[in-house]
Amino acid sequence: MNKPAVLVARAVFPEVLTRLEQHFQVEHNQADEVWSRDQLVARLKGKAGVFTTGGERIDAEVLAACPTLKICANMAVGFNNFDLPAMTAAKVLGTNTPDVLTETTADFGFALLMATARRVTEGEHYLRAGQWTKWAYDMFAGSDVHGSTLGILGMGRIGQGIARRGAHGFGMKVIYHNRSRLSPELEAECKASYVSKEELLRSSDHLVLVLPYSAQSHHAIGPAELAQMKPTANLVNIARGGIVDDAALAQALRDRRIAAAGLDVFEGEPKVHPDLLTVPNVVLTPHIASATVPTRRAMANLAADNLIGFLVNGKPLTPLNPEVLAAA
Ligand code: GLV
Repeated sequence: MNKPAVLVARAVFPEVLTRLEQHFQVEHNQADEVWSRDQLVARLKGKAGVFTTGGERIDAEVLAACPTLKICANMAVGFNNFDLPAMTAAKVLGTNTPDVLTETTADFGFALLMATARRVTEGEHYLRAGQWTKWAYDMFAGSDVHGSTLGILGMGRIGQGIARRGAHGFGMKVIYHNRSRLSPELEAECKASYVSKEELLRSSDHLVLVLPYSAQSHHAIGPAELAQMKPTANLVNIARGGIVDDAALAQALRDRRIAAAGLDVFEGEPKVHPDLLTVPNVVLTPHIASATVPTRRAMANLAADNLIGFLVNGKPLTPLNPEVLAAA
């Protein structure tokens, strides 16, 4: 029997490719070229599945051009590169990689919070530039993390991981806002109190964004929200570009409307708003919150398991639109 054809849209761990090749005819991209939309569509022709990494937009137009496609397996927990309603209408399954990256991503959220509060990269740049000639009492004085108020916008699994780290590790008071409130048991475990978005903005010393991107969360933090934050507050975005209005944030940082920001995600990445590159009080990282070797390996294997599970065994592990399975 002919093996189904799948496309792996970006370079992956060689052993994951070998696993896929046991089940599929695989067209890969180990050269890791960044394809245009037309190049992606051309390669998707005749494929039953695609392994995506979060940057490949799958929408009604792509689906109409690729009628053989049955599954898009994202190697990411976020899936705003998928037009899920269009995929469901075309009976194409979407999958993502939840859980396997939760703790690693929460670790990084904390790393960015700490680096931002304690001005780690500013200090490093100063030292590397040979400017450290004497100690000074106020040199890179930042803000305290321990005992401060940690605000979390978006309280899914990663948000809860950050809350636990803050409450149990650093004795922080944890407040959160989310579409829905956690159960009393989870709130107690995370030592987190539910507050309105206004209260969250007003009271947080460190505000971490962990909510999914959607039309509703676009620019959830813009000029009006930044104006409500404490002038001493730090903002950390490990969610998605577009949740923060980057131009407004750069202005707020320049004007010291807030103290500092730590950003792992950007509007229009890998481009970064030029104003963010020139303000000193921001820590910038290239979308690496889930980037540890074991976690990236687990994410790649889960995306592969979803392709194999669905196309070979009819059972994907982490479906996003399971109604497609019910209809099959
Ligand atoms: C990374 O941003 C992910 O969604 O997994």
